[in-house]
Amino acid sequence: MAKGIIIDKSKSKEEIYRIILPQLRALMENENDLIANMANMAAVLKMSFDFFWVGFYLVKNETLILGPFQGPIACTRIPMGKGVCGQAWEQKKNIIAPDVSLFPGHIACSSDTKSEIVVPKIIEHRVIFILDIDSDILNFFDEIDSHYLPKLIALI
Ligand code: SME
Repeated sequence: MAKGIIIDKSKSKEEIYRIILPQLRALMENENDLIANMANMAAVLKMSFDFFWVGFYLVKNETLILGPFQGPIACTRIPMGKGVCGQAWEQKKNIIAPDVSLFPGHIACSSDTKSEIVVPKIIEHRVIFILDIDSDILNFFDEIDSHYLPKLIALI
């Protein structure tokens, strides 16, 4: 039985990342199943920051396919280069959309999403999956998220 994660929402964004990072490491060090770890990471991120949507898309047959997530239903398939997710996959780098309405080609799964960050997991120059987080707050994501989220998905 996994131990609970301790979350203090009164802390700053950076402090919350610092608090959840070692706890996620402990949670995942004895579990090597990709889907199980993605599911728990999505849950911890959703609970920690009250994000509107947190989830993973896995690269399968040259398409991004929806994986474990927390939040409302989402589109199931995203081609390379399409939307924030497909562009992060194609460019192999983090992408922040401070205002999704201004992001060329943004795929709107919900009109409640105002800003978004996508972080790819790269192994031997190939993107294996991407982490996608949607906030209902404009301009929510910054260099703190870009710094800590790759450290989190490195645990999976
Ligand atoms: N907005 C994303 C699509 C996925 S949903 O946000 C869950 C995009 O533009 O790629």
